[in-house]
Amino acid sequence: NIKITVIGAGSSYTPELIEGLIKRNNELPIGELWLVDIEDGAEKVSIIGDLTRRMLAKNNMSHIDVHVTLDRKPALEGANFVCSQFRAGCLEGRIRDERISLKYGMIGQETNGLGGFANACRTIPIALEIAKEMEELCPEAWLLNFTNPSGMVTEAILKHTKVKAVGLCNVPVIMQKGIAKMLGANEQDFVLQVAGLNHFIWARRVLHEGRDKLQDVVEEMLSGNDPLVPQNIPKFKWPAELLRNMGMIPCAYLRYYYTSEDIMGQELEEASGQGTRGEVVKAMENRLFDIYRNPEQNEKPKELEKRGGQYYSEAACELMSSIFNDKRTIMHVNTRNNGAIEGLPNDCTVEVSSVITKSGPLPLNVAPFPKDTLRLIQVLKEFESLTVEAAITGDRNTAHRALVLNPLVTTGTVLETALNETIEANLDYMTQF
Ligand code: NAD
Ligand code: G6P
Ligand code: MN
Repeated sequence: NIKITVIGAGSSYTPELIEGLIKRNNELPIGELWLVDIEDGAEKVSIIGDLTRRMLAKNNMSHIDVHVTLDRKPALEGANFVCSQFRAGCLEGRIRDERISLKYGMIGQETNGLGGFANACRTIPIALEIAKEMEELCPEAWLLNFTNPSGMVTEAILKHTKVKAVGLCNVPVIMQKGIAKMLGANEQDFVLQVAGLNHFIWARRVLHEGRDKLQDVVEEMLSGNDPLVPQNIPKFKWPAELLRNMGMIPCAYLRYYYTSEDIMGQELEEASGQGTRGEVVKAMENRLFDIYRNPEQNEKPKELEKRGGQYYSEAACELMSSIFNDKRTIMHVNTRNNGAIEGLPNDCTVEVSSVITKSGPLPLNVAPFPKDTLRLIQVLKEFESLTVEAAITGDRNTAHRALVLNPLVTTGTVLETALNETIEANLDYMTQF
């Protein structure tokens, strides 16, 4: 029987994961489910534990042993799958990142720009500590990483440990579902091929009924129907000519790069109104936990769909099942490049459509990117790889070299000040600096 361990299980997303496991009852013979958190999340994870037991009971799955613990080691011991979904520094850390970035005239976002860098520096040391424990306690386990910034965290683990890690994101899942709707097709009836870096991907192929329907999807997006955007990204219209002539479909996060000024305006307006995304999420989380606490509650509430990460469990549960059952389905995952994207190092981590086997993802190579787009990806990849290095070594010069590459980061004195303030505000987490 399978042992699944969830790190950061106090997350308000966990009921979605449980729902996904319940749906796959026939594919995944789970024996134990270990829900792990830290002192700060003790109350949340205990509420989630109780809700999990009620959800399982409702579905006649009470045979699964649910353990709630703040002690990681017994939870990792002998695990088959480890889902990582913790937030280093909790929501307070995210809100601080957003506010510091905005204060210095930069986009305030949890995975992009200065915020993404700060998040990586808080998170990577912890992620590596967990991976090192996995090498000892469950060397055969698969690590499914959701912890953001997902691409950089996965790269750190793949480059610096022996752990079999796969990075995940719900953005390609949202694209897959949105495109299915536009084509009026079932998800399994067409093939979507994406490539790029996490939160920096383009759809390259939409194969349906013997044709590539990518351009049809573009026209549909331009007609005002754009279901490819997660809830956390402000609503926005792509410049028509740009999109029409690209020959690819940019993921919603690429708006931050193609139209930075517009998003900046929207972010500033929101930050002075309803609050930053982190602040909005904090209020949402309180409401969700009020629902979870109710002893009558025994399913995932609708309200959870307002979070940007909706459908993430779809990816996690499907990945577990695909590995366990050697399904050879195509999924969009963060894995070692190995030549899939021409022009990037083999050993860097990329987000690409891959065939999922019992031995892990086999990435599909993509048609070469147009030169200008490739340059952009190379710059972002260099930013990511240097950020991973800075997060490990704590070398300020490496941090600085990383940040000047990022198109969303202002350079010069502003950067010096913003970087110092970021490190200062995160002293508890960024001990490497
Ligand atoms: P959250 O703030 O609820 O954090 C989840 C839990 O992690 C909390 O209960 C917290 O106490 C716990 N935690 C913090 N540090 C920990 C540690 N060292 N060990 C174990 N637990 C720890 O966050 P959330 O909004 O539910 O998101 C969780 C994570 O998943 C974040 O990193 C978020 O960015 C990420 N996420 C990623 C995707 C994706 O597409 N990759 C989608 C959704 C969420
Ligand atoms: C999705 C992303 C996640 C991100 C989340 C934020 O777009 O793929 O990586 O963490 O949304 O959602 P939230 O509701 O926390 O703002
Ligand atoms: Mn994501």
